[in-house]
Amino acid sequence: MEASLERKYDFDVVRWFAVMAAVYLVVGAGVGVYIASELAWPFLNFDIPELSFGRLRPLHTNAVIFGFGGSTLMATAFYTVQRTCGVRLWSNKLAWFTFWGWNLIIVAAVITLPLGFTQAKEYAELEWPIDIAIAVVWLSYFYNFVMTIHVRKSSHIYVSNWFFLGMMIMITYLHVVNSLAIPVGLFKSYSIFAGVQDAMIQWWWGHNAVGFFLTAGFLAIMYYFIPKQSGRPIFSYRLSVLHFWALMFGYVWLGAHHLHYTALPDWTGSLGAGISMAMIIPSWGGALNGMLTLSGAWDKLRTDPTLRFLIISLAFYAMSTFEGPVMSLKTVNALSHYTDWTIGHVHSGALGWVAMVSLGAIYHLVPRLWHVKGGQMWSNSLVSWHFWLATFGTLIYILAMWISGIQQGLMWRAYDQFGTLVYSFAESVAAMHPYYAMRAVGGFIFLSGAVIGLFNIIMTIRQGVREGGLERARQGTEESELATA
Ligand code: HEM
Ligand code: HEM
Repeated sequence: MEASLERKYDFDVVRWFAVMAAVYLVVGAGVGVYIASELAWPFLNFDIPELSFGRLRPLHTNAVIFGFGGSTLMATAFYTVQRTCGVRLWSNKLAWFTFWGWNLIIVAAVITLPLGFTQAKEYAELEWPIDIAIAVVWLSYFYNFVMTIHVRKSSHIYVSNWFFLGMMIMITYLHVVNSLAIPVGLFKSYSIFAGVQDAMIQWWWGHNAVGFFLTAGFLAIMYYFIPKQSGRPIFSYRLSVLHFWALMFGYVWLGAHHLHYTALPDWTGSLGAGISMAMIIPSWGGALNGMLTLSGAWDKLRTDPTLRFLIISLAFYAMSTFEGPVMSLKTVNALSHYTDWTIGHVHSGALGWVAMVSLGAIYHLVPRLWHVKGGQMWSNSLVSWHFWLATFGTLIYILAMWISGIQQGLMWRAYDQFGTLVYSFAESVAAMHPYYAMRAVGGFIFLSGAVIGLFNIIMTIRQGVREGGLERARQGTEESELATA
């Protein structure tokens, strides 16, 4: 019999990244619920600068995107590349460097953002010393991944690895270019770009943080974990390769759709909108490819809540990749821009797609990585509870934002017969209160699911340790549940 998979691969670092992902989801969503509540009940600012909405909002986005999303991407990429290439990581030590480096960066964000140190560029707020650390740690992740592929035993490179690679290449150069700045102190710097160029570079990064970090990387997860969890081969491998190349060539052109009606030349916005519309085709092709993988095995959804997470994520992926292109049209954007509609779109992608697909992958990994007997989580019914809380929490959140966003847009553009505005800005703010309260409730429901998830993960790990499966697998005396993974 071949050696135990535990001895063949480096899984410790994967285990820790997976646990940290679950922890950061609770932290990031917790801060999300707090800032959502501040918008509904502003007294929660308590006149303390470190608790104010403006300081905590970037903490929320950094914790969820880079803490939760980044840890998930690192856990799954290091796992998938080993399993599909049939080799251990090129360097386990370098992977640990990535782990500690990434976590220190998140800690640095947690300290500096509430203190008000920021470059004021969205999703790129962190100051220059941290930016340099991000580049170094990201490159360590990238290099290890590429070298593991380089020394692979399999003849071809599975499509998930292509998606991971695309994400790693693009994020490297987007992060480096957008962060170019002149330091004027340890915690202060000025971007080397100015005016409209600064805006363009920022949104070239901003949209591609979405397109590559929050989409391509998570599609890599989808292409590995849906076939694994459902026990079916991917519906069409050819379609997945088309999906990959279309996204790689398309996404980089979209940034200008964030800057309609600004000093940016008009044609750049039109180009961004045109290509945004075209992106519906590969995005829906990819979503269908994932869903159709279940052909003939749909009944599994009834009994397997982990698979439910993975499949519902594709419904949200399809929804947000339809909504996004529609919002990129100038006439629609004239209504949606600056309103909560954008926030609704963001969270149908972030909660519905990114968080759900990640949770599906984490629930697939945890029982296998800790060699729990039967390869199941400690409580499958808690996974199911988590699924429903996450789904309803997300739906309540985005419904509230759609209503408030469209109402805001309509109130801002309402004129009377004399051509004067019907509503003052303050009136539009007051009208949002019920929806902000509703969003805070939806967020709280989502957060409760995340807390239950973390509890279930801890209990599963404890069960694994109690059963001693991991120890036996490490000694190579027993083939593990991983064999089925
Ligand atoms: C309990 C769950 C969550 C709640 C209650 C929540 C709440 C919020 C709030 C109140 C804002 C600020 C909106 C504004 O400025 O008007 C925000 C922004 C944002 N959140 Fe969340 N959030 C949650 C989870 C997440 C997750 C899991 C992700 C990503 C994976 C995410 C990504 C973002 C992003 C990217 C923004 C910035 C949006 C923009 O600038 O347009 N959120 N969130
Ligand atoms: C083909 C796919 C997509 C297109 C064409 C698209 C398009 C858009 C457009 C037009 C906006 C509003 C820009 C503005 O008015 O400023 C937007 C905002 C946003 N979208 Fe998408 N979207 C897509 C998919 C997604 C997905 C899957 C996610 C999440 C994972 C996502 C996350 C975001 C975020 C975070 C913002 C807010 C950016 C900000 O202002 O801070 N999008 N998107």
